Amino acid sequence: MDGPLIPGLEQIGFGGDYNPDGWPEHVLKEDMELMRRAGVNLVTVGVFSWYAIEPRAGTYDFAWLDATIERLDKAGVGVCLATPTAGPPAWFWRANPDARVLDRQGHTLGTAARGIGCPSSATYRDAAARVASALAERYGEHPAVKLWHVHNEYGVPVFDCYCATSAAAFRTWLRARYGTVAALNRAWGTVFWGQRYSDWAEIEPPVRAATAANPTHQLDYQRFSNDELLDCYRAERDAIRAHSSRPVTTNLMTTNRQTPDYWAWAPEMDLIANDHYLTAEREDAHVDLALSADLTRSYAQGRPWVLMEHSTSAVNWQPRNLAKAPGELRRNSLQHVARGADATLFFQFRAHPFGAEKFHSAMVPQAGPDTRVFREVSELGADLALLRGVLGSRVRAEVAILWDPPSFWAQDLEWRPSVDLDHRAQIEAHYRALWDRNVTVAFAHPAASLDGYRLVIAPASYLLSAAAASNLSRYVSEGGNLLVSYFSGIVNECEHMPDGPMPGQLREVLGLTVEEFLPLRAGQLVRLGGGGLGSRWAEHVELGAATCLDTFADGPASGRPAVAVHAFGSGRAWYLATSPDAATLAGLLASVLATSGVSADVEAGEGLEHVVRRGDGQDFHFWINHSGVDREVGAVGRELLSGTPVAGSITVPAGDVRIVSTVAAG
Ligand code: GAL
Repeated sequence: MDGPLIPGLEQIGFGGDYNPDGWPEHVLKEDMELMRRAGVNLVTVGVFSWYAIEPRAGTYDFAWLDATIERLDKAGVGVCLATPTAGPPAWFWRANPDARVLDRQGHTLGTAARGIGCPSSATYRDAAARVASALAERYGEHPAVKLWHVHNEYGVPVFDCYCATSAAAFRTWLRARYGTVAALNRAWGTVFWGQRYSDWAEIEPPVRAATAANPTHQLDYQRFSNDELLDCYRAERDAIRAHSSRPVTTNLMTTNRQTPDYWAWAPEMDLIANDHYLTAEREDAHVDLALSADLTRSYAQGRPWVLMEHSTSAVNWQPRNLAKAPGELRRNSLQHVARGADATLFFQFRAHPFGAEKFHSAMVPQAGPDTRVFREVSELGADLALLRGVLGSRVRAEVAILWDPPSFWAQDLEWRPSVDLDHRAQIEAHYRALWDRNVTVAFAHPAASLDGYRLVIAPASYLLSAAAASNLSRYVSEGGNLLVSYFSGIVNECEHMPDGPMPGQLREVLGLTVEEFLPLRAGQLVRLGGGGLGSRWAEHVELGAATCLDTFADGPASGRPAVAVHAFGSGRAWYLATSPDAATLAGLLASVLATSGVSADVEAGEGLEHVVRRGDGQDFHFWINHSGVDREVGAVGRELLSGTPVAGSITVPAGDVRIVSTVAAG
C-alpha cells in the first residue's frame, strides 16, 4: 500500500478542468451546488488563464483566482492549480515575436490558438517561470491547493521548433553529447551522401529537405526537442517548489503518436498524471484505454496515478465524434481506477458555449444538469466515494511489453523497408491478445530491470542500445522468457546497424540471424505450416541454435522459419518473423504464457475485463463487463459498490462493473 497520492485528499479524486473565467455570478453559485451533487472533490483551475492572472507583462491581478479558490475551498473542493503557460497571452506574442514557433516546413505558427512559445526561447521560459513563481508564492501553501499541474500536455501541439534560437540551442546540445565534430560525424554517418561537417556552426536543424534527411540527425533533433521541453517543465517546477510543498505534476499523453520520452520525465514528477481520450469509432476503444492506463502506471513505477483528463461523452476533434453510450463513462472511469488511477478527472466541468471546444462534452453539458450525462456523472461520483479502501493499492503484472519512445521516433522516419512496419500496431496486437486473456501487463524500458516478470515481449523493438540488448540477454540467461517479433534490435542508439547479420545485438540470445527482409504486398497474406496466417512482413531467417516451431508455407519466405525458440542460459527466447492474424497470435501467446508460467483468466468470458489491485491483506477484484451479455464469476468477499456480501459467485450484468474485496491471495 502506498500513502495518499495527493496529501489531504482521502477519497478517489473526482472532478475536472474548471474554467469559470467570465461566467456570471449565478452560474458560479450553481457550479458549487452541482459539484456538491456530483461528489466533486478536485478541480483543475487556470490551465489557460495567463491573461487573467498577468493582464500586462509583470502586472498581476489575482482577484479572479482568489475568488475562485476561496469559493472552491468553502465548497470543500480541492484545487489542482495549473500554470497557464500553454496559452501565452496576446501581449506576450506582440512583445516577443521571436518566441513564436517555426515548424519543420518553415512556417511560423500563428498565435490565435494555444500551444507554447519556442521551447528554447529564454524569453518564453523566463515568462513561464515568472508566472509559475507568482502563482506559487501566492497559493503555494493555500489549504485548498492539493496539487500543481504544470503547463498542459507538453509536446502537444508543438513538439519541436526549428527557429534560429532552437538551432543555436541544438548546437549547444550536440557539443555536450558528442564533444567533437569528428565524433558527431561518426555518429551521424555523415560520410554517406557527403554530409560531413567541419564546424559546429555548419549544423542546422533538420528542416524539410529535398529528400530523406540524415536519420541520426533527425533522431537527435527529437531527443534534443524532448530535452528542451523537459527543461521547460523543470524550470516551472523548480519555481513552484521554491514556494510550495504540494506535489507537482504535468499531464502526459502516454499513448499519443509522438510522445516525449516520458521515461526521462517520470523521475522529475512528484506523481504521474495522464490524459486519455477514446478513439470513439474503435469498437475496442476500451482496450486502448487499458493499454494507456497500464503504460501510465508503468511510468509511475507501479504506484497509483492521476487520470487528469478524459471525456464524459464526445470530444470534438476526431473525424466523427461519437457520443459515449449510456454507462460507458462509468465503465471508462472505473477501468482507469482498476488499473491504478487514484483520481479520475474530466475535461471539463462545464461546457463553454463559445470557442474551439464548444462541441466537446463536459460533466455539465450545454443542455445543463437535467441530462443523462450529468446524472451518470453524479452516479459515478457516488460510486467513487465508496472506493476509499482502494486508495494506495497496487496492480501487479507478470508480463512486460517493451516501450521506448526513441525507438518509435526512429522507426517513424522515412525510407523504411515497408510502410506497413507499424510498431504501435504490433504492440497493440500483442497487448490485445493478452487483454483477451485478462493477463495484466506492465510496460518497461528496454534497459530497465526486468526482474520479477515471467515474460517480456519486444514487439518491433527496432532501436536497442547496447545496454538494452545486454539487459535482454541477461534477463533470458538468468531464467527469463522473452518473445521478440520481427524488426527488433536492428539499429543501435546512433541508428546504425551493428556489424554482421541482423538482428545485430539479439543474434546470440535468439540463436538465429535474419539474412534478408521480405516485406509483403498490401493486403497479401502468407500461410504458416501450423495453419496460421501472417501479413505485412516475412523474412529470410537462418537458424543457429534456435529450434523452428513453425514455417512459412507460402510467400517469399516459403519453407523458412516463421516462429522459433531458443534455450539460452536458464531461459528461453521466442522469435516471430511475421505479423500474425489475431487467432495465430492468440495461439502462440497461449503456449508462450503457459511455458512462462503466467496465469491467464480466460474463464471470465469474452469482453469481461478482470484486474486486481492489492492492498494491505486485501485484493480488490474489478470486473468490467464490456459485452452485451451478463456474466457470472466466482468470488468470495464483499461487493464494494453495493456493500453486499458475495459468497461463491457474482453476476456482472452486461455493461456494468462489480468490485469485490477479498482476502488477499497468497
Ligand atoms: C486535451 C486538452 C484539453 C482539451 C481536451 C479536449 O488534449 O488538454 O485542454 O482540449 O484535450 O479533448
